[in-house]
Amino acid sequence: MAAARRPFFCGNWKLNGSIAESLALATDVRNGVSSLRDVDVAVAPSFTALYAVAKRLEDGPVTVAAQDCFWEEKGAFTGEVAPSQLADAGCKHVIIGHSERRQLFGELDAAVNLKARAALRAGLAPIICVGETLAERDAGETMGRVQAQVDAALTDIDHASLERVVIAYEPVWAIGTGRNATPAQAQEVHHFIRSRIAGRAPAVAPRLRILYGGSMKPDNARALMAEADVDGGLVGGASLSAESFVRLVKEGSAT
Ligand code: PGA
Repeated sequence: MAAARRPFFCGNWKLNGSIAESLALATDVRNGVSSLRDVDVAVAPSFTALYAVAKRLEDGPVTVAAQDCFWEEKGAFTGEVAPSQLADAGCKHVIIGHSERRQLFGELDAAVNLKARAALRAGLAPIICVGETLAERDAGETMGRVQAQVDAALTDIDHASLERVVIAYEPVWAIGTGRNATPAQAQEVHHFIRSRIAGRAPAVAPRLRILYGGSMKPDNARALMAEADVDGGLVGGASLSAESFVRLVKEGSAT
């Protein structure tokens, strides 16, 4: 990654953990990374554990992310959670448009954009996920798919707000499969995303962080982070143990 950007690793715990388990994991992560300086670390517990984990971590340095949000602030939307409620619970970031939301829950690009804009209005930093399926990669459609997702997600987001956006490139075929993109494959897409953003916001693009997600592990983090446009990781499986997540963060942020 380039020196202009601070590495950022976010553990995506998905649907895992009681409140007690989440507190224990968060505490171990905090203790494990507290001596590290030049890296940002966040964890994304389930909604039920957000407030407790945010309280536990309020003295830093680890921050808290939610895994999704809705785009309206209030009203008759049974089951939804507003970005302002997440901020109220202590969140600083929210993951938006994860491929599991897109694939399993039918989330469309337009919804990703509405959620990202709502998150920004509430003062949260959206971590917007994009990435192609295996069929799309095999058909040579990777860049087209990623371009469409990035363009749609960032529609009507001004340059000042774009400064707070984080993009996560997560090839769907690499998520939870143990098969990560090679560093060169990741770099190709990360570079493409940054160029695409430079086309609309040339001053912001060099500072915008683009995370890699998809079977990032302690033993491949360093090689992925050696690529110029890979600025961190959105980490699923390897974030469910403090030992492996802390090791991954250390490997990934070692210069
Ligand atoms: P994984 O998940 O690290 O288990 O592949 C990444 C993600 O889905 O964010």
